[in-house]
Amino acid sequence: MTRYIINNSSDAYGKPIYLKGNITVQGAKNSALPLIAAAVLSDSEVELYNCPEIADVENMMKIFSSLGGRTERIGDNVRLKMEDMRSHEIKSELAGELRSSVFMLGSVLARAGAAKVAYPGGCDIGLRPIDIHLKALREMGVRIREEYGYLLCDATNAHGAEVTLDYPSVGATENVMLLAAGIRGSTVIHNAAREPEIEDLGNFLSMLGAAVEGAGTQIIKIEGTDKARGAKFRVMPDRIALGTYMIAAAVCGGEVTLSAARPEHVFSLIGKLRESGAEVDYNSDSVSVRADGRPKAVGIVETGTYPGFPTDLQAPFSVLAAVSEGSTVIVENIFETRFKHLAELTKMGVSVKVKGRVAVFEGVRTLSAAQVQAMDLRGGAALMLAGLKARGTTVVENGLHIERGYAAPEKVLNALGASVTKVRNK
Ligand code: UD1
Repeated sequence: MTRYIINNSSDAYGKPIYLKGNITVQGAKNSALPLIAAAVLSDSEVELYNCPEIADVENMMKIFSSLGGRTERIGDNVRLKMEDMRSHEIKSELAGELRSSVFMLGSVLARAGAAKVAYPGGCDIGLRPIDIHLKALREMGVRIREEYGYLLCDATNAHGAEVTLDYPSVGATENVMLLAAGIRGSTVIHNAAREPEIEDLGNFLSMLGAAVEGAGTQIIKIEGTDKARGAKFRVMPDRIALGTYMIAAAVCGGEVTLSAARPEHVFSLIGKLRESGAEVDYNSDSVSVRADGRPKAVGIVETGTYPGFPTDLQAPFSVLAAVSEGSTVIVENIFETRFKHLAELTKMGVSVKVKGRVAVFEGVRTLSAAQVQAMDLRGGAALMLAGLKARGTTVVENGLHIERGYAAPEKVLNALGASVTKVRNK
């Protein structure tokens, strides 16, 4: 059991923590995971720089090892080599820890010609079906049966194809790219997801020897290879970690500079933070947020596919809505049940009403400390941000959810002047 204890030693007048300093943005979780899956395609060594030390990445590396691969981590660098593939099965105890294990499907199928994958686990934020993945893989000639919670897949006759996704699912786009890149033939994906992590994967697959065009746009063309090479690749910066710490500065007030960032990936957030009264400046690889006084409510925030407002920043942003002057409406368009953190936030004095996918906040001036439970990764991060603002000592239980995606958040926040302690009980 991991918990985070956030101490807000505000004075008798309730002066909150003011975050001040420079931090470096971690590598992107949502890029590192499919890149590790892609490493299955090659029998040569792959080296990933800037690969974040977070639980999801460690679990993905465990899955890679369980298939017969060698993994090594030195600081932020990870080396992976799948010289001989011993197994094409992803067992339920590993898949249960990590929803992204489903991304292994495409690359395991390409490399081994077959795959047995347990239905994936991960954040409990909605139904999260994988029908779009399976439909696309079937269109590429993969035969799929379901048995006892496992998917049994046969790719003996897999081929390139023209695939149109019913919805631009990030994971389905990545799965199709991984299969297409690892078999001979041409594939075109229509209505592909345009998230920046897709572009990162496309660049990496090109380094491995596939020809990928259009990754990051709605149409991706891939000419695959069955002789993938090794590669050295730098994982892109994590736009969600970047956004979370930018929001933290706006919630608490502060002057925070985030380096090793890609500001263009968070333009939708920058717009909203400016509306709330924060000053946001950026250059090619850093972002600065300066916020003073009470934030102003921004009216309405709706999550959408990239370049819309990211669903992964909805929970952290809800803390800003909760303490802003005025009312804010947040509409969650991507996942059905991504408001679980709000019940915990109300224990801290947040005033919010929820109906379906819509949450309406009446901003309050102060929050009070409480013992709260992280229910999922981004909801857990939101509770930490609320703890920074709340008077007293907040305890966020189930910190394991937060560790899945944020590399040492206590160190990052403490470097900005906060007082966060991580406690791990047996
Ligand atoms: C990825 C990200 C996650 C982010 C999400 C949306 C990773 C590891 N995770 O998740 O952090 O919140 O994109 O930006 O990269 N859907 C279906 N059927 C499918 C696939 C998806 O109905 O086969 C639905 C989902 O239930 C959800 C929506 O489509 O409502 C978006 O899902 P998707 O884009 O696939 O997200 P993930 O790849 O799971």
